[in-house]
Amino acid sequence: MAPTLFTACNTLPPEEVVPPKGGLSVEPAPTLFDSPLALPSGGAGLFISFEGIDGAGKSTHIAGLADAFEAQGRVVTLTREPGGTPLAEKLRATVLGDPMDALTEVLLIFAARRDHLVNVIAPALLRGEVVLCDRFTDATFAYQGAGRGFDLNVLSTLERWVQCDEGLLGDPAGNKPMKPEIETVIEPHLTVWFDLPPEEAAFRLAGTRVPDKFESQPVEFFRRVAQGYADRQQGHPERFARIDASQARDVVWQAVLQVFIGKGWLS
Ligand code: TMP
Repeated sequence: MAPTLFTACNTLPPEEVVPPKGGLSVEPAPTLFDSPLALPSGGAGLFISFEGIDGAGKSTHIAGLADAFEAQGRVVTLTREPGGTPLAEKLRATVLGDPMDALTEVLLIFAARRDHLVNVIAPALLRGEVVLCDRFTDATFAYQGAGRGFDLNVLSTLERWVQCDEGLLGDPAGNKPMKPEIETVIEPHLTVWFDLPPEEAAFRLAGTRVPDKFESQPVEFFRRVAQGYADRQQGHPERFARIDASQARDVVWQAVLQVFIGKGWLS
């Protein structure tokens, strides 16, 4: 189920929450992109994220999709998280290289995400481009939430603050106080999740490169991360497309392509 206004904005454990008199709205949080062709600005941008544990093999397929969209005349913005802007890339190097406590890590990742949204993702969507983003907020729920055990309610609150449309989408006053309880939350139209057993991912990664802070985690960490992705899919079934990434690369590519053809985004 999509996060509701209630769950997303409340940082108290559920048992401590006292519903206000007159009832509590449990409507799903509004998302900006109910339909890829219905941006408030009239633009027709498409925002697609790609997820999976390290070693799941998403990179070649993201590049293939960029080519496929460009072959059909679309302008593609290829980007990644953490990263995608000069500031966010600096934060990426810190997050992936330096030891830090989980809250510091979460705040740096969301700071990078805000800068990326303001400077790259929202402007590209306003121009009507296809944004292919290698990881987005589901990774934070999977790695920091499920992997490191960070509080999911706090992640939901940060998600609403950082992905709030206030200050984005043509509003130059990015320093206005945000009202995440009433603003619209930006999230991908589609999240392609490359699902691969952690043991297989570890086997594929072994010896391919110097592992970063996350890649060098034990397989138990990636079991929790994989479960975190499965939980996110359950919470957002309409947004997620699960791909069985244990198949041969060509078979995986055909499966990815079918998702986009099925949505009418590629032919
Ligand atoms: P990448 O190697 O696929 O570019 O991802 C970078 C690493 O950062 C990867 O191990 C996953 C991790 N990560 C998080 O822990 N939290 C996040 O929110 C994101 C976007 C990535």
